[in-house]
Amino acid sequence: MTTLTPTQLKRTIFCRDNLDVLRMMTDESVDLVYLDPPFNSNRTYHAPIGTQAEGASFKDTWSEADLKIEWLGLIADKNPQLYAILNGVYEAGYRKNFAYLAYMAVRLIELKRILNHSGSIYLHCDPTMAAYLKLTMDAIFGEENFRNEIIWCYRKWSVKQKQFSSNHDVILFYSKSKDNLFNPQIAPISKGTEKRWKGKKQISSYTEDGRRLQIATEEETTGGNMPDWWEISVINSQARERVGYPTQKPLALLNRIITASSNEGDTVLDPFCGCATTCVAAEKLGRNWIGIDVSQKAFDLVRIRLQKEFLDQPNLIHRIDEILFRTDLPSRPLAAIDPPRVLKQELYGKQLGNCAGCGYHFPFRNFTVDHIIPRAKGGGDEPANLQLLCGACNSMKGDRPMEYLLKTLAELKIGRESP
Ligand SMILES: C[S@@+](CC[C@H](N)C(=O)[O-])C[C@H]1O[C@@H](n2cnc3c(N)ncnc32)[C@H](O)[C@@H]1O
Ligand SMILES: [Zn+2]
Repeated sequence: MTTLTPTQLKRTIFCRDNLDVLRMMTDESVDLVYLDPPFNSNRTYHAPIGTQAEGASFKDTWSEADLKIEWLGLIADKNPQLYAILNGVYEAGYRKNFAYLAYMAVRLIELKRILNHSGSIYLHCDPTMAAYLKLTMDAIFGEENFRNEIIWCYRKWSVKQKQFSSNHDVILFYSKSKDNLFNPQIAPISKGTEKRWKGKKQISSYTEDGRRLQIATEEETTGGNMPDWWEISVINSQARERVGYPTQKPLALLNRIITASSNEGDTVLDPFCGCATTCVAAEKLGRNWIGIDVSQKAFDLVRIRLQKEFLDQPNLIHRIDEILFRTDLPSRPLAAIDPPRVLKQELYGKQLGNCAGCGYHFPFRNFTVDHIIPRAKGGGDEPANLQLLCGACNSMKGDRPMEYLLKTLAELKIGRESP
């Protein structure tokens, strides 16, 4: 299987579905992940006409049709606790959220694998999905590795009726282990009036929310430890950094995350990089970076943005490594590792975790792959002739055809109506 080594990946942009790229990356090869995925906001984002990003758009509406059936089996196989959470969301009838979470979960599982022992991950979301994603992240990274729920507050003019205006995003911060690298940050303060008293310069300073701090001498004007709520302005229409990409995030936000959770020379990954705010911030702070975005428009913008920002560095590498994605190679490397396992995962997803005999729901490990028409009766190995049976149904059926099992179950009045 082709794998991508860390050195191949310094300063790289991939224009591709991030799941394909993540699956090819080596274990424990990145130090920090920031991701700002679609939020399940039920809308399609378009860049305004006349901006550099014109033509860029991405869909953020979800339905069960977006779900790849094998993802469910993969989640059930790798992380039964996570599967139980997703299955609960499904059974409760939140089908759209279920599809979104399954899409996120398969990617987050890969992100955990490629994160270093001392690494951190920041998942940017909004209040609609934050609670669902918190459960998902707890199941993947472990409750004990939850570090902060960061509230990014901003002032934005919005007209909302019968409710307060929504002026914050949520960033869920987890670490891979308790040994996470963390550089403490000081809350910025705005300097106020300066006076001289007995020849010494005195400065009265204010916190970001306008609280007046004690008058201090110049050396003492530092803020306190950074809290978990951050006031950072959204990019305004006149800002120099603005490229017009829908949902572009401010560099100040990424600067803070990158400074706190990585050191110079470390590798930062953004698997939903959009117009590459993370990559630009990482480059300026002396980190290596990897950006992935499925949209070609995003890739074009990244190229323009990086060229503009780093004119003095003609050797800045940014490329799509097509060689690693030859079309004659299997697009899902996992299939090449363990085909029977992948097949079982697909069947599990197709049956939604329910036994093809009794219809009851079971964990992944309780199932056996069974031939609907037994091999002894000429049944083949093609997927259409395969199904999953629970232990009890499997021994009841033995080598007999499926009709026998269904008839016996009916006689014994065993079985659950499919939901
Ligand atoms: C909210 S935007 C990210 C904005 C980014 N933080 C910035 O500052 O520009 C989400 C991005 O995810 C991309 N995307 C959606 N699904 C993807 C996938 N499966 N793989 C890679 N990128 C994806 C979209 O094209 C979009 O650019
Ligand atoms: Zn059964």
